[in-house]
Amino acid sequence: MDKWDGQRFIESMQLDKSKSVLEIGIGTGRIAVKVAPNCKSLCGIDISEKTIQRAAENLSMYQNIKLICDDFMSCKLEADFDVIYSSLTFMHIQDKLSAIQKVAALLSNNGLFVLSIDKNQNEYIDMGDRKVKIYPDNPNDIRSYLSASKLKLIDEFETDHAYVTVSRKASLSVFICFANREVARGSATEGL
Ligand SMILES: C[S@@+](CC[C@H](N)C(=O)[O-])C[C@H]1O[C@@H](n2cnc3c(N)ncnc32)[C@H](O)[C@@H]1O
Repeated sequence: MDKWDGQRFIESMQLDKSKSVLEIGIGTGRIAVKVAPNCKSLCGIDISEKTIQRAAENLSMYQNIKLICDDFMSCKLEADFDVIYSSLTFMHIQDKLSAIQKVAALLSNNGLFVLSIDKNQNEYIDMGDRKVKIYPDNPNDIRSYLSASKLKLIDEFETDHAYVTVSRKASLSVFICFANREVARGSATEGL
């Protein structure tokens, strides 16, 4: 499964014991078992009740985990997360711009968003007895949604099956500083 994320994905989160973290589409807790021992708190959301139950079993040794069974797109989450990450899940989300805007709203200033998107461009996943419709991702679209959501791309890498982007929510002071610089530049060029 490291083919979709792996050690560099975990390191990109820059975890420490002060960080509050959110995983979108926690699944059975495959990545969360590596994150929980290295952060202050981990909130995991997943739309599937059965999957959340398995995550609860697999993560039962950690006291700093909160699991929510809900749709990330419609759930109300209260918090400023220092890190939000997601792997192998965005292909299930149709409105990716809204999802990334929601991520940006949930991140604290300077917070990190680490996203792995599947390279697979098939529109269905074959589950044996049924086919599940998915919405393939593409890195160019994701870059433009990050930028539109004021998340600054700070790193990108590829794994065998995925593209990973690491982006940061610019702090308010950076915006104020930038705005002031624009105002100063405007007044310096006034009358030219
Ligand atoms: C392929 S699994 C990946 C699980 C985990 N991230 C991993 O890499 O092991 C995708 C997960 O996303 C969940 N999911 C899909 N759409 C979701 C949504 N809108 N909100 C929350 N979870 C969702 C699914 O239930 C599933 O558990």
